Amino acid sequence: ENGLMKKIVSHAKEYGFVFPSSEIYDGLQAVYDYGQMGVELKNNIKIVWYKAMTQLNDNIVGIDASIFMHPLTWKASGHIDGFSDPMIDNKDSKKRYRADVLVEERAAQMEAAGKKDEADALVKKLARLLEADDLKGVQDLITNEKITCPVSGTSNWTEVRQFNLMFSTQVGSVAEDSSTIYLRPETAQGIFVNFLNVQKSGRMKIPFGIAQIGKAFRNEIVARQFTFRMREFEQMEMQFFIRPGTEMEWYNKWKESRLNWHKAIGLPAEKLKFHDHEKLAHYANAAVDIEFEFPFGFKEMEGIHSRTDFDLANHQELSKKKQQYFDNDIDPVTGKAFGNYVPFVVETSVGADRCFLAVLCNAYTEETTVEQTEEGEKVKERVYLKLHPTLAPIKAAILPITKKDGLPEKAMEIYNELKYDIKVTYEDKDSIGKRYTRNDLIGTPFCIAVDHQTLEDNTVTIRHRDTTLQERVPISELRLKIRKETSW
Ligand code: GAP
Repeated sequence: ENGLMKKIVSHAKEYGFVFPSSEIYDGLQAVYDYGQMGVELKNNIKIVWYKAMTQLNDNIVGIDASIFMHPLTWKASGHIDGFSDPMIDNKDSKKRYRADVLVEERAAQMEAAGKKDEADALVKKLARLLEADDLKGVQDLITNEKITCPVSGTSNWTEVRQFNLMFSTQVGSVAEDSSTIYLRPETAQGIFVNFLNVQKSGRMKIPFGIAQIGKAFRNEIVARQFTFRMREFEQMEMQFFIRPGTEMEWYNKWKESRLNWHKAIGLPAEKLKFHDHEKLAHYANAAVDIEFEFPFGFKEMEGIHSRTDFDLANHQELSKKKQQYFDNDIDPVTGKAFGNYVPFVVETSVGADRCFLAVLCNAYTEETTVEQTEEGEKVKERVYLKLHPTLAPIKAAILPITKKDGLPEKAMEIYNELKYDIKVTYEDKDSIGKRYTRNDLIGTPFCIAVDHQTLEDNTVTIRHRDTTLQERVPISELRLKIRKETSW
């Protein structure tokens, strides 16, 4: 399936979806830029997420917090002490690896060789060592399993040590006044520190949520698989503040709700599954991933975590500012108001870039059809992006079938009328067939052809991307029809 991934990566580059960052300087590992089509697709994913959160739920509001935060934030959140991966270097190749990933890859090789029990035992052993923070144990595992460096082929390893994934920088221009701050490794903390601001200014009553989309940064040791694991990426996170004791109910509710969202943007049910965490992050008492079947296998796309009062309680302790809510609902057990408490939180956290990659991989379609012609059977091959119409970068292309007889002017008239409401393009270069193909490759759901009949009766043909079938429609109905089919 690596072949498929390669095709998708080159398709993404060739048609303006994703480019390697600073490519003229040979790129920067694990950093990517979205091109003219990619930015539209990614924005549409973000809009649909934001709308699902803040418009379809009357108790969820949005914020946009800063990337830089007070350094104590990351002490409270546990990231300074606990947000690291075990790292190992090969002394010959000078290549750096994640020690746990090296062991996992060995287990995968064992499994592929039919030694499933041994592979499972190795993975379990690794999990136990990581849980116990036993880096020496992980090192012994690498030695005992005779794991070699994929580049040098030697087992001349350094020690395994913890590597913090946060990027740091200095704020302040004068050396003695400057202090170390971090690029946020998750957007969630911007929500936690604003919990009371939003609750008070918005007069929010528990249960309520705060949603946010923004950049996050992690100095990933091994960054690969295109936009799946990047050093600069975007998260779409929602923190749902609840009464302690109700967390499992909300956890299960958000699990279902988020799975349904992925289905609603066109990802098929059979390519989605839940994966419960065996090893919980430092902040969670229950956690599940929604995995998508990428060409390189089922992998995490979203995390749903029951974070208890971990974050708010720690912020309360370090900031010395109460992070409490007064709940005047009546507790049926005591007959009195629930009163003051630090709320619990269930969070949903999805990577915009991973979601983008899932959508792109799912949409990439190679189709072979056999057509009956007078000369016999004709095999036709086509590649197109079968994107959900709501997510498609361009909703409709307006195409005069020739460049004469006043057809371009008529097509331009339609384009100018639709462009205020709908993302449309106008194209008159090349044959109509070539223009259909170009639009298939970027996933445009509708091509609108303006022909001589249009001048007579004000109708156009709409060609549908997935079926390639055409229908005749009055110009006056275009706007409503396209909007209806491309809204979510
Ligand atoms: N606030 C919780 C949190 O950050 P996480 O499981 O570490 O949890 C959530 O990250 C999501 O962010 C992941 O499911 C993934 O979609 C995305 N993500 C994390 N690291 C990423 C990376 N290096 N590149 C792209 N996306 C990433």
